[in-house]
This record gives sequence, C-alpha cells and structure tokens, in this order.
Amino acid sequence: MDPQDSADLSRINYDPITYTLDLPNSFPMMEIPENNLMTIEGVELGRKLFYDPILSADSTMSCSSCHLQKGSFTDNRATSEGIDGISGTRSSMSLLNTGFISTGLFWDGRADNLEELALLPVEDPIELHDQWPNVEKKLMRNEYYPRLFREAFGIERKNEITSFLAAKAIAQFVRTLNSTGNSKWDQVQRNEVFFTDQELEGFLMFFDEDPSLPDAECGHCHSRPLFTTNEFINNGIEPVTGLSEFPDKGLGKRTQNLIDNGKFRVPTLRNIELTGPYMHDGRFENLNQVLEHYNSGGHVQPNTDVLIRPLNLSTEQQEAIIAFLKTLTDSDFVTKEEFSSPFE
Ligand code: HEC
Ligand code: HEC
Repeated sequence: MDPQDSADLSRINYDPITYTLDLPNSFPMMEIPENNLMTIEGVELGRKLFYDPILSADSTMSCSSCHLQKGSFTDNRATSEGIDGISGTRSSMSLLNTGFISTGLFWDGRADNLEELALLPVEDPIELHDQWPNVEKKLMRNEYYPRLFREAFGIERKNEITSFLAAKAIAQFVRTLNSTGNSKWDQVQRNEVFFTDQELEGFLMFFDEDPSLPDAECGHCHSRPLFTTNEFINNGIEPVTGLSEFPDKGLGKRTQNLIDNGKFRVPTLRNIELTGPYMHDGRFENLNQVLEHYNSGGHVQPNTDVLIRPLNLSTEQQEAIIAFLKTLTDSDFVTKEEFSSPFE
C-alpha cells in the first residue's frame, strides 16, 4: 500500500450541518434512514460523486451520463447504453422524488434503498463497469475527495474512504431531488393560476371526477400528490400469449412467482413531458402512443390490472389528458442550480 493512502486527515474540521429538505406542502414526510442523516457536506459530496466520471473504469461515464437534469434525470433514450457502448434492456428512470419510494427501487423493485442501489452501477457491466476497490483507490488519491469525505463523515485517514460512504453520500444527494412545487399543477392547487378548459377536462377524466365524462382510470395508479402509488402492476403493454412469455419478467424475475411476470413499478407522472420515451423499455415514443395504448385496453393476461380496459376516449379527450399531464412539468426542477453539475 502507498503510505500516502493512510495520510492523517484529523486536522481538517469535522462539524457537519444538518440538511433540511424543502418539500412542497402537499407532500408526505420523507423517511430518512437513521444511519445516513442528511448533512450539507454529505449532499455536496454526493453531488460531486454523481457527476464525476471517476466512478467509471475508463473515466468517461458518471451517474449523470444516464440521469441528466434536463430530462428530469433520465437520458431520453429507449434503453440506456453503458460504458462499452453495450445496450441495456431497460429505460433509465427519472430520479424525481425517488426518496419517497418505499416499495423497492428499479423497475422491478430489486434494490431496497438508495444506499444499496448506489453501490450497484459501479460494478454493472453495462453501467459504470469498474470495481469498487479501484474506485476507492482513485478517490483516496484524488486531490480533493479525502477532504470532502472527512468533512461529511469524519474519517481520520484517507484509506477510510469506502464504497459504503460514497454510496451514502450519493443517496443523500438523490434524496434532495424533489419537486419544487412550482409546476402549473401545484400552482393550481394553491389557487394561484387556473387550468385551461382543455387541461380541466383532462384532469376530470384522469381522476374520474365528472360523471358526464368517460373515466380514464389513470389516477388510481398514478395518484396524488406524487402521481404514483409505487405498486407493481401489469398495465397490459406486452402482447404475450401466456404468463411465462414476457420478454422481461419484471417483478416476476425477482419473486420467481409466475403471477408477478410482466409487473413493473408504477412510475411518477410528474415531469412526464420531459422523460420520454416511455415504459420500462422505452417502447412508446410519445404521450400520444401512451394514450392510444390505454384507450385500446391493452393486452389481457390473468394478472393484467382490471383498470386496464377499453376507455372509449375520443382523440380530443386523449389530447385533453395529455394537456393535463403537461401541467405536471416542473421547469424549475430541471434548471435548479443545486441539482446541476458542480464541475461546470
Ligand atoms: C448506463 C446508464 C446508467 C448509469 C451510468 C447509471 N444509471 Fe441509474 N438507472 C439506469 C437504468 C437503465 C435504470 C433502470 C434499471 C432497472 O430497472 O433495471 C436506472 C435506475 C436507477 C435508479 C432507480 C430509480 C427508481 O425510481 O427506482 C436510481 C436511484 C439510479 N438509477 C441512480 C443511479 C446512480 C446514483 C448512478 C451512479 C452511481 C446511476 N444510476 C448510474 C441507467 C443508469
Ligand atoms: C392499473 C394501473 C395503471 C393505470 C390505470 C394507468 N397506469 Fe400508467 N403506468 C402503470 C404502470 C405499471 C406503468 C409502468 C409499466 C411499464 O413500464 O412496464 C405505467 C406507465 C405509464 C407511463 C410511462 C411512464 C414512464 O416513466 O415511462 C405513462 C405516461 C402513463 N403510465 C400514463 C398513464 C395514463 C395517462 C393513464 C390513464 C389513461 C394511466 N397511465 C393509467 C400503471 C397504470
């Protein structure tokens, strides 16, 4: 071992300041794990690590290669490409309000929490493709990371930098990526602005609030205020002839339960205008195709949710729902300085 790696850091001041989340009033409380309370220093370190290609084998990729702020932290590709240009099979997920998800992370829910998840991309052959021991070494020999780990976590020597601390810091940063409360939808809730007639019609169908309009059923799965229940559902997008035929088994791959095949976690519809293409494999290029799918009633299997049924919406009614969905766009979120790259 390089003697430099055990260099003493204890003279650097360690006095972290608690980070207070600033959430829209309508939001629930976020549960923060006791062993990773948020601090300003921890969030700042996590932000650097999130944007720094130091986490990848050839130093070309970072978390932000597939999670870009302008796409509400998606990459706007159908499926993500990894470090050697290898194509993945799933679409990158928006990181908006991820800290509220308690049913399991990823499309199939296979990661229990953000701390655990943040360890994975570094060793995933199609994501960052490096090994943590290499990354730890790169971090402890870097000119500024030892100081930042000291300030965030109180380590005393450079070689106390671990993958677990890096993952904790990244998790802290991801928990800050929440709605600003400035979307048109949120402003309408506070009576600051009003829907157009078209948006209002879309809203009423989305939440089944007007008996004179068709029920679009959306709000049962994409429920307020986060616009998701985070449950695992088969929403009928896959034209298969049996439960064992799903090309991506989703939840079923994790539980090994046939009835879970083809179920994926309901994603948030906040910022949906910015996160296409849509669904776990990016099969729909735009919201018109999404509405056509739901309107058609989709493909029925024994586990397709009962709310997936032909809706009989006219083209105008589908457009009204899309107009409503666009009121969920949070432009301040995608330009907010604190979420952007600290290297630019
Ligand atoms: C090569 C592209 C790529 C890179 C690099 C990448 N991700 Fe992802 N990310 C994805 C894809 C694709 C998914 C969905 C994977 C799945 O469901 O199997 C995902 C899912 C996630 C989720 C789950 C969100 C949810 O709602 O469940 C989080 C959180 C996340 N990534 C954070 C990170 C962090 C932090 C890093 C860096 C350490 C990172 N990602 C690096 C492509 C990438
Ligand atoms: C029975 C529950 C359910 C209902 C009802 C439902 N959805 Fe979904 N929605 C889901 C699930 C599950 C997914 C993810 C499926 C996948 O990726 O395989 C999804 C995905 C989406 C996506 C893509 C999100 C993304 O990030 O890629 C959009 C857009 C969407 N739904 C809009 C709607 C609209 C509009 C309605 C009403 C017309 C609706 N949903 C009704 C469960 C539902």
